[in-house]
Amino acid sequence: MDFKGMVVVITGAGRGLGYEYARYFASKGARLVLNDPGRQGDNYVVDFAAKGLANEFGAQVVTNHDSVEFGDKIIDAAIKAFGRVDILVNNAGILVDKSMVKMKAADFDLINKVHVKGTFRCTLAAWPHFRKQKFGRVINTGSSSGLFGNFGQVNYSAAKAAIHGLTLAMAKEGENSNIKVNTIAPVAATSMTQGVIQEDILKAVHPRFVVPLVAVLASKECPDNGAMFEVGGGWITKLRLQRAEGVMLPPDASPEKILENWEKVGDFSRRSDYPSSGSDSLERMFANFEATARQRQGSPKL
Ligand code: NAI
Repeated sequence: MDFKGMVVVITGAGRGLGYEYARYFASKGARLVLNDPGRQGDNYVVDFAAKGLANEFGAQVVTNHDSVEFGDKIIDAAIKAFGRVDILVNNAGILVDKSMVKMKAADFDLINKVHVKGTFRCTLAAWPHFRKQKFGRVINTGSSSGLFGNFGQVNYSAAKAAIHGLTLAMAKEGENSNIKVNTIAPVAATSMTQGVIQEDILKAVHPRFVVPLVAVLASKECPDNGAMFEVGGGWITKLRLQRAEGVMLPPDASPEKILENWEKVGDFSRRSDYPSSGSDSLERMFANFEATARQRQGSPKL
């Protein structure tokens, strides 16, 4: 895959998954903007990482230490250093895990600021550049917690689900300008998962094993837009929504009638589908309303 000369911005690139992405793109001749405010003592970890990549691969690397919520400053760094941005990997992340009993509003706000606002602000700043050059690739970072929920992670689950919401809508807005936006839900042995993933399976989920999918999604050849993938340990799989056929009742049906039909509401065994927009739902609702009105020779009661 050819990334020579392309400008790649990676947030949270000082360690973990972000650092592994940086290493790959540096090895492929990309020009890099590595963001991370994380410090070790007086030094920014990302500066150390950048120096290493410049020495090892001769890569052109600049660093930025702003929090992702100030995404415009990160993208400005790319424009100032290289005059363009081609690929944005929204990777930065933190955890503040607490059960609902202990969670404070501030814990929710902080997680949403870093994950949701951070992803939005970085992409918003890169968007006009992508549109102008008719090319852009965005890799957003979700999580299995955002797909399935997780105990003690109400804040993080909400933020990660919201990130895929950003992906879905941005993908639709970007498609005419060759801007492709996808979400990954990675599993990797990093500081974030220390103590969470069992010791004996840590080696199976080295962060490097997530890199190849990110490369595909960042490439000119990227075959998807608006998709969600689980990735780790060499397993790459796409997820989608499934909708049951459901039941069509008169719009003014009682709650008791809905309960009587509950099995049909959730029956995926017959005529389920995989919707990618809400427009056909509206058509079905309108057709049902009209059919009821015709049958009764009058509109359903409000
Ligand atoms: P990590 O903790 O090793 O790295 C995260 C990096 O983000 C750190 O270097 C940190 O300094 C940086 N960061 C934190 N707040 C920031 C901010 N406001 N602005 C810029 N950078 C900031 O974690 P890891 O595992 O590499 O995580 C990367 C992404 O993958 C995160 O979004 C995480 O939620 C996600 N993820 C990771 C999983 C895993 O199994 N490791 C599972 C699911 C999701």
